[in-house]
Amino acid sequence: MRYCQLIIIFSSCILLSFCQNTPNAETSSYAKIEPGQLIYTKYCSNCHGGDGSLGLSNASDLSASNLSTKETYEILMNGKGLMQSFSGMLSDKELEQVVNYTRSLRN
Ligand code: HEC
Repeated sequence: MRYCQLIIIFSSCILLSFCQNTPNAETSSYAKIEPGQLIYTKYCSNCHGGDGSLGLSNASDLSASNLSTKETYEILMNGKGLMQSFSGMLSDKELEQVVNYTRSLRN
């Protein structure tokens, strides 16, 4: 009987360790975050906020912006007011991704 209990405990330990190795929901949803959102979170959200409307340091409300893609891109290249230029910091591809993400914040 005691031997039997040991086997049960042992096999549930093995089962548990298998469960820990399978990718959980958190890691798989992380993979789905688009690159533009990661760049935005890193470089833009401290002034503009996660949804674009935070307005710290007088930052424009991006959810209410009506700039064209080209104009948004130019603001990122040249900077404006307290916002620095991102031209040397982000690659062309990253700029394109973050511009697209920024435009997706509009309501
Ligand atoms: C230091 C704070 C700060 C950071 C970081 C910042 N911004 Fe800004 N942003 C501002 C400010 C301030 C303005 C308003 C400038 C003005 O009109 O004088 C602005 C304006 C803008 C505008 C113009 C919106 C409009 O409709 O006029 C866009 C687009 C924009 N930011 C996008 C971004 C993106 C994308 C990032 C990240 C790559 C970013 N910003 C990072 C402060 C910031």
